[in-house]
Amino acid sequence: MEPPPKDPWYRRATLYHLYPLSFADSNGDGYGDIRGIIDHLDYLNNGNSDSLGITALWLSPIYLSPMADWGYDVADHTAIDPRFGTMADFDELLEKAHERGVKLLLDFVPNHTSELHKWFTQSRASQDNPKRDWYIWADPGKDGGYPNNWVSYFGGPAWSLDKKTGQYYLHTFLPQQPDLNWRNADVRDAMFDVLRFWLNKGVDGFRTDAVMGLVKDDQLRDDAPNPNWRAGVNDPGDEFIRIHSSGQRELSNVLGSFCDVLAEKENKFLLSEAYLNVPGLHKMYGACVRHPVHAPFNFNLIGLPWSAVAYRDFIDSYEAILGPEDWPNYVLGNHDRHRLVSRLGPERARLMAVLEMTMRGLAVVYYGEELGLPDTPIGPTEVRDPWEQRVTGRGYGRDPERTPMPWNSENGGGFTDATPWLPMGSASASLNVESERRDPESSLNLYQHLIHLRAESPALIEGDYRSVDLGNGYVYGYVRETERQKFLVMLNFDFNPATVTLRGQVGKWVAGTHKVEGDGLSGVAGELELGSYEGRVYELMQGDKS
Ligand code: GLC
Repeated sequence: MEPPPKDPWYRRATLYHLYPLSFADSNGDGYGDIRGIIDHLDYLNNGNSDSLGITALWLSPIYLSPMADWGYDVADHTAIDPRFGTMADFDELLEKAHERGVKLLLDFVPNHTSELHKWFTQSRASQDNPKRDWYIWADPGKDGGYPNNWVSYFGGPAWSLDKKTGQYYLHTFLPQQPDLNWRNADVRDAMFDVLRFWLNKGVDGFRTDAVMGLVKDDQLRDDAPNPNWRAGVNDPGDEFIRIHSSGQRELSNVLGSFCDVLAEKENKFLLSEAYLNVPGLHKMYGACVRHPVHAPFNFNLIGLPWSAVAYRDFIDSYEAILGPEDWPNYVLGNHDRHRLVSRLGPERARLMAVLEMTMRGLAVVYYGEELGLPDTPIGPTEVRDPWEQRVTGRGYGRDPERTPMPWNSENGGGFTDATPWLPMGSASASLNVESERRDPESSLNLYQHLIHLRAESPALIEGDYRSVDLGNGYVYGYVRETERQKFLVMLNFDFNPATVTLRGQVGKWVAGTHKVEGDGLSGVAGELELGSYEGRVYELMQGDKS
């Protein structure tokens, strides 16, 4: 294995996941754009403690796209969609982000393209087109039906018939998103060149979309029926257990070759979108043994039962499988999941902010999460997400977590002068950047404080993690420490106040969900009470034995 770079930026990064359609609209068309991001870079990081202080940005897709899946249907991987601006805008964004020490990651969408991509237009032209095998085509199955039982994540069969050529093509997502054939070496080379195009421009890495299904069973065998699935009750995409359409053995070779391409340049990083439990994550970390420049996103906190014990057990087991070069990460929300505050409520969300910023590894913030923004209710006529349009009224729609960033309480939220592409939502009247800046107790100020504390504290960045028993099952306690610095974090998962037992630690309160005036740990063993859903971070004095 090659040694990792001397100072891999991703070890100390706070990554901000920015959904460009909803961040800031500079040209008054109701959609966010690249110029809007440039205009708000100061908010993200102006080099001082009065900005959020994030150090890396991941942009959801900005490539040329007919927007059937809002950019995840790429028609040209190396062109910017005019809705977002121009390549010159992109170059400027990259340069200005780098000037501030902010790294830039793009979204790499390897599983499929848009049906309008020229590769697919050629592929569907005839059965003997040289690009035919770039996508996954199959003859009709028995009775002229679908080639197998695979279903789309967005509802319905994963196959569509191309009448002209008499075969079906595979689409794990929308019919407008045909799946590429990763068993074809030319596809692999072409997609590696896409990575190189952006790496040559100087981007710092990628978030890789939907990796688990990249390689499919070579015989296209049926998936297994899901015994727990009930029609009309469960998600249509879960009707079968994806034993053949996803998670194939060959996937780790493909991931390994992504890492090889990234390693052609210095200090690049790859994050994969894969919803996996701890053993699955362990396997994924193993895919890039030649070049340890990759981590699978850890989404487990999103679905974890709400209890101190569940969180401690999960994080202890995750930490336990990580090798010295494996870098952890914690995700609390993204453009596919209901917002943190809507899942947990505002108090618990604040507790999660403390956890996020005091854990080892890469911290990830989904735009608006720092404002404590909830989902925005979407009326039937406002729906933009194709998933909601296909499987209506069941709560799968992703528009609620994709609504525009509220910058102020004006009409249009400071996001746009036009009608925004998705509604602003009533919460943005009080939960917006301008109002929250003025309120010392706001979610924004909590995030900002924690992000800066983390950036300035070696123990929070690279220190060891160890959970500690504080004598109360409702409280999750842990220590982060290097030889020279040590923090004790206590998180009360209960609505009721909780008493913890301290063993004589000496230290000072440095951050938390609630303001604690002049409080410290005195060195006397005894009890300490935490409020409802209160989280506290203490910096302990040298020599502390906890
Ligand atoms: C990923 C993206 C999601 C998109 C899908 C298809 O899961 O996060 O937004 O719809 O892939 O590209």
